[in-house]
Amino acid sequence: EPRKRAKLAIKWPLKFTIEGRYHRARASTITLPHGEVQTPVYMPVGTKGAIKGVTFQQMRELGCQILLGNTYHLGNYPGTEVLDNFSGLHNFEGWDRNILTDSGGFQMVSLLKLAQITEEGVEFESPTDGSRMLLTPEESMRIQNSIGADIMMALDDVTNPLSTKERLEEACHRTTRWIDRCILAHNPSKPQNLFGIVQGGLDASLRDISLEGLISKNLPGYAIGGLAGGEAKEDFWKIVAHCTNKLPWEKPRYLMGVGYPIDLLVCSCLGVDMFDCVFATRTARFGQVFTKKGFLRLRPEEMKSDLSPLDESCNCPTCIKYTKSFLSSLLHKEQTACHLLSIHNIYFLFTLMREIREAILSGELEEYARNFVLEWFNGVE
Ligand code: GUN
Ligand code: ZN
Repeated sequence: EPRKRAKLAIKWPLKFTIEGRYHRARASTITLPHGEVQTPVYMPVGTKGAIKGVTFQQMRELGCQILLGNTYHLGNYPGTEVLDNFSGLHNFEGWDRNILTDSGGFQMVSLLKLAQITEEGVEFESPTDGSRMLLTPEESMRIQNSIGADIMMALDDVTNPLSTKERLEEACHRTTRWIDRCILAHNPSKPQNLFGIVQGGLDASLRDISLEGLISKNLPGYAIGGLAGGEAKEDFWKIVAHCTNKLPWEKPRYLMGVGYPIDLLVCSCLGVDMFDCVFATRTARFGQVFTKKGFLRLRPEEMKSDLSPLDESCNCPTCIKYTKSFLSSLLHKEQTACHLLSIHNIYFLFTLMREIREAILSGELEEYARNFVLEWFNGVE
């Protein structure tokens, strides 16, 4: 089988260098086709390629090294024909740093309740024209090869962590079967990396089956999926700890869909390197921001004469210039509000991750975590 043998020889274009550790937490550099990524890292989500309310130039200035996009949305529009004409999404949108694409199944299941998952793939009825679309592992890889993302995610069978044991078992085994189809469908002449996604819900023995199946494929990195779906924090952190304990130390780990500040801190401590979440930008659009003292909701009436910035300790372009009074006056009236609040929230998470990284490197992670938690929950005198 020459094709299979050729696959064994895939040289993934990723270099992973661990620069420091603090117990299980790591500070690393991931070198990808479009540059370096310092970890732990938060990756902002631009579902359709762009971040809502923030320009690419601003993302650059905020120090963003990797952006997230979604295969399902980008496959629909602009579509692979246009992407191929541009030789990929980087050229199409003029972003010359790294891109990671999620495989599409999660978006179809979470956005379109009509999705049906079979052995063939994820199938659903288009909400606009009623036509049926089938996203198979092969189709997901074909689209992701056209996008040209530096990191592509394998198509997984996504379930809510609170599903039945039978459903979780099916999803776990199917994700393991699909990884072979993804590897085989990938065009190895493209300088792109394929990450597998560990499934198995809150069941440690299912997670073990998934871990074993994926690790044996010797992929360049691994993601932990199927979490942050409404389960208790205890259970969620426990499964993260279980997975990071068994994933290969010398490869990057990515926790999907997690972007709540405390979770970023806890899971970095547990050995996760990469995170993504729409929460920071979505919640900004609803007028909520992160501060070192926890969440702050903008209230125009209350803040009419509040001349302080969103967060006294923040040096972002929004906090340097604007008051709560001004920002809250724009809320739900001007696009600018959403824009300025999104910039603050992204800057906040970038700063959090940079501080965690520095604390790992200097051996002060415990002290950092203690201070962050105390301040976040307003325990500081
Ligand atoms: N985003 C958040 N969780 C998941 C998951 O389990 N799988 C995929 N593909 N994307 C996700
Ligand atoms: Zn700010």
